[in-house]
Amino acid sequence: MRKVDISTLKDNVVDLIGKQWMLITAGSMVGYNTMTASWGTMGYLWGKPVAFIFIRPQRYTLDFVEKEDCFTLSFFGERYRSALNLCGSKSGREIDKAAAAGITPFEPSQGCVSFKEARLVMKCRKLYVGRLQEESFVNKDLLDKWYPSRDLHKMFVAAIEEVWEE
Ligand SMILES: Cc1cc2nc3c(=O)[nH]c(=O)nc-3n(C[C@H](O)[C@H](O)[C@H](O)COP(=O)(O)O)c2cc1C
Repeated sequence: MRKVDISTLKDNVVDLIGKQWMLITAGSMVGYNTMTASWGTMGYLWGKPVAFIFIRPQRYTLDFVEKEDCFTLSFFGERYRSALNLCGSKSGREIDKAAAAGITPFEPSQGCVSFKEARLVMKCRKLYVGRLQEESFVNKDLLDKWYPSRDLHKMFVAAIEEVWEE
């Protein structure tokens, strides 16, 4: 993988996150967790390129993202779809997901973990965290549709500090 400037990326963000999906990973090689995500966005805020990610309270990955200053977003080619399905349906509380999915953890930079099979990796540093608020939904239908048990996501806004591409 080689380090690239984020402005050189050609990916369409809606397709990249919403259709290709990503792994959100936080922790170190001593202890980390990863999960699949297809909700989120990227853009420009507070003078920096940023990513917004959304994690439900019951995810084990949330413990790691809350504890650490940084996390990674990892994107894969289509042949890793089954690996992403596994990381999005099993919890790191129960199994070693990387071993089960056949992906290899490594540290692209100190204090963060990604996977050797990824085609695109972003190291993100947390800037802002907040839980979505029930009263802030303008469209209340979304609440019943997506949160029947009111497990509203935590939203993290993070600066995209480093990017590596295959
Ligand atoms: C395609 C796909 C997209 C997902 N997107 C999200 C997401 O954006 N936010 C979230 O909280 N969970 C999302 N999930 C669910 C988590 O990946 C799933 O619950 C996972 O097993 C959590 O693992 P953990 O307990 O080890 O953190 C998604 C699952 C799949 C299959």
